[in-house]
Amino acid sequence: MTDDSTNAGRRRFLVGSTSIVGSAGVIGAAVPFVGSWNPSAKARAAGAPVRIDISRLQSGEMLGPIPAWRGQPIFIIKRSDELLSVLNEDPDRLADPDSTEPEQPQYAQNEFRSRTPDLMVLVGLCPHLFCSPIPHIELKPEPFDTEWRGGFFCPCHGSRFDLAGRVYSGSPASRNMEVPPYSFEGNDVLVIGVDEENAA
Ligand code: FES
Repeated sequence: MTDDSTNAGRRRFLVGSTSIVGSAGVIGAAVPFVGSWNPSAKARAAGAPVRIDISRLQSGEMLGPIPAWRGQPIFIIKRSDELLSVLNEDPDRLADPDSTEPEQPQYAQNEFRSRTPDLMVLVGLCPHLFCSPIPHIELKPEPFDTEWRGGFFCPCHGSRFDLAGRVYSGSPASRNMEVPPYSFEGNDVLVIGVDEENAA
């Protein structure tokens, strides 16, 4: 018998590769192409933008890792109100709680490190030596932290990050995880690699 909690667990990590849509347009999604910004020649040379269908992503779930943009994995998390409420309750545990270092675009230099509070977009690499951190989204004790408040744990050398990708003080990593440039096409398509600063 399958209860709601089991379903929630299964849904928590969706298979990212099935949700990537084509870079030349939107495939498999009933969302018209509405290009607000077009990538500059410089941005195209560095790596084509990637469009990702986020229409099925529900609160408390993560999409990814998606080996999508410039060969880097992308994490997309839709944070619930509960996850957002604990995000800034103890900034002293973080090395750079205000994101003063340039690991994010300007529009993500805020208390949530994102354009919209709920949707977190990260390059899924640890800034220490570039292992891919493991998502531990739920608010529950973990072997590496009995008061875990959700986030990412890097198994290589033990760096810990919160659900905004901010590194915990004392971790081998000294910087927050990177927020890539991103924008939206309508409500359902996330575009990695294109924004106000990476436009024609
Ligand atoms: S690569 Fe993540 S802690 Fe070293």
